[in-house]
This record gives sequence, C-alpha cells and structure tokens, in this order.
Amino acid sequence: MRAAVAMRSDERDPLACLELKDAWPVPEPGPGQVRIRVAASTINLHDLWTLRGGAGASETFPRVLGCDIVGWDESGREVMVTGAFGDPDAGYGDETLDPRRKLISEDLPGAFGEYTVVPARNVIAKPAWLDMQQAACLNVAWSTTYRLLFTRGQAQPGERALIQGAGGGVSTAAISMARAAGLYVIATSRSEAKRKRALDLGAHEAVATGERLAQPVDIVVDTVGAATWQHSLRSLRPGGRIVTAGATTGSDIPLELPRIFYRQVSVIGSTSATRSETLRMLSFMHAAGLRPVIDSVFPLERIHDAFKRTAEGDLFGNVVIDIASR
Ligand SMILES: NC(=O)c1ccc[n+]([C@@H]2O[C@H](COP(=O)([O-])OP(=O)(O)OC[C@H]3O[C@@H](n4cnc5c(N)ncnc54)[C@H](OP(=O)(O)O)[C@@H]3O)[C@@H](O)[C@H]2O)c1
Repeated sequence: MRAAVAMRSDERDPLACLELKDAWPVPEPGPGQVRIRVAASTINLHDLWTLRGGAGASETFPRVLGCDIVGWDESGREVMVTGAFGDPDAGYGDETLDPRRKLISEDLPGAFGEYTVVPARNVIAKPAWLDMQQAACLNVAWSTTYRLLFTRGQAQPGERALIQGAGGGVSTAAISMARAAGLYVIATSRSEAKRKRALDLGAHEAVATGERLAQPVDIVVDTVGAATWQHSLRSLRPGGRIVTAGATTGSDIPLELPRIFYRQVSVIGSTSATRSETLRMLSFMHAAGLRPVIDSVFPLERIHDAFKRTAEGDLFGNVVIDIASR
C-alpha cells in the first residue's frame, strides 16, 4: 500500500525522517481489531513531535503516523475511529485514564497509509451529514475539546470563556462549541486576520495575544502553553479554572503558586476523549449545526508540504490529508 512512514526522528530536520513508500505492507488485524481503508486524516502536532523525537514520543520506528482515522470498514461502511485506545474497565473511570492507554499511531499503525488496523470498540459509524474530510478533523481536535470544555472544564451556559490562540484545530473547535453552548467567548490571536476569523466563527470578542481583558473570565482554554500561561492566570476570576491539553509553545512555565492558591484557581488537565464523549459531541454538533474549519487539504503525496504548513503555525483550522483519492 502507499504510506508516509516515519523512519526515525530528528529534532533538527524532522521532515527528512518521513518517507513516502509505494509498497508498504498492509497491516493485518489481530484479535479484537478490524482493518480500515483510510479515506482521510489530519496533521497534528503529535505527529510532528514524534518526528522530532520529542518528550513522550514513542521511539519505535518505522511507524505510520496519523491520529485521525476515517474511512471504510471491511463491509464498506463509512466509519470514524475514536480515542485513545484504552480499556474502559481498567479501574480508573474511563478509557482515557487507563495507565496503559495508547494514542492512535503509537502501538498500532496510524492513518497516513491506505490501510490501518484499530480496536473494534473504537470504530463508530460516520454520520452522513459530515463528509470524510470534515470527519477527519474530529477525533483529535474536536473530541479532545469537547472533553476539555464540558467533562473536565464543566463549562456552563452564561460563563465567560477565554480561548488562547485562535487558529489551531483545538481553539477553532473551542470557539464553535463554547459559543453554541451559550458561553460568552473571547479569543486571542497574534494575527489581526485570525482575530477577524475568530469573530466570524462565533467569538464575541477577539483580542491581541496578551492583551488585558476588560473583565475576568470563569474558564480559560489554554493549549498554547508558555507564551500565554501568565495571561491565562491573570485573566481568571477568583475560583476560576484553566483547562489545558497541550503546550505548543513549551511547558517550562512558572506555575505562580500564590496566584493559584490565594485566588483558589483550578488547573485542570485533559487528554483525548472517550467513545461516549465522541458520540455525544457528534449529537451536539448535529443539533447546533457545527462543522470543523478546514484550513487546507493535501494529497498523501504532498504530506511534507502539509507538515510544513502545520509547523509554520499560520493556519486556521485543520490541515487535512486526503489518502483515498489520487
Ligand atoms: N492532549 C490531547 O489530547 C491533545 C489533543 C489535541 C491537541 N493537543 C495539543 O493542543 C495544542 C493545540 O493544538 P492545535 O493543533 O489545535 O493548534 P496549534 O497548531 O498548536 O496552534 C495553536 C495556537 O497556538 C498559538 N501560538 C503558536 N505559537 C505562539 C506564540 N509564540 N505565541 C502565542 N501564541 C502562539 C497560535 O495562535 P495565533 O497564531 O492565533 O496567535 C495557534 O493558533 C497542541 O500543543 C497539541 O499538541 C492535545
């Protein structure tokens, strides 16, 4: 099969480690697994960090990356794949908390090849109201954001939410879902063009990164990390909460403990989403008429250009890889 394969990692030249192969072996499903013919995927920072050999990245190479999987099962049904692959009965409450859970593309092959295999319980039907490219944006960016906002963050209608870094897949999903759920949404961006797009997407206000807010907020969604953390802490009301699922600009940040304990702020981590959260999110998106924002679409043969677009950071929404058409 055709596949883009990570052969190794290199911090300084990560894209040199990604090779296009025309005759990579088609993976065989093991017990409890099914094979999917992949239609589309997206580029996520997890893929880039794996190629860079970043902290937490698995060192097993060669590997097919790609954490969003949509396509067809062996009966031809249109499907999407949920998760993190974890055991919901591991004893900690849900599959994302299973200490042995794996992200897609860590143990099993990911989506940047024509076929992949996944645990059968992570496969759900793709709703007909989403096309394959839209559905490809949902597992990593949207499901993560749904859990982050509503399960972990307990976002409530009428609350004021600050969403840092308007352009990413997570922040575009957060703006859309928080607005549809009845929150007052303030987005930040370094770029005037992205601030305008954030307003078009549903934000009530869009301010420059780091700009002091007129009034404090109840909840902050911060996946930018080092560049915005201090602003996130300073923008919260006493008793407010920051929900984090990533640190694009780095995680080496002063925690400012006095600000956290005197002002009784909660810092909440969130990762991935459960199968049932993904199903609820799809119902929410359908009821509210929400669709993901697609920044650009690249064929598998141009995956290096797609990675460059992601690494440059000037995107708005998700970068999609079209695997099935050629
Ligand atoms: N834990 C999980 O399950 C999970 C799932 C999905 C994603 N994540 C993580 O969440 C993070 C967000 O991912 P993403 O793919 O949605 O978006 P992304 O490509 O990481 O970009 C997010 C935003 O970061 C902002 N940014 C970048 N450099 C900046 C800087 N120097 N100063 C200020 N802002 C800066 C940009 O905002 P502007 O350009 O608008 O200023 C951009 O829109 C990543 O770290 C990713 O790994 C985690």
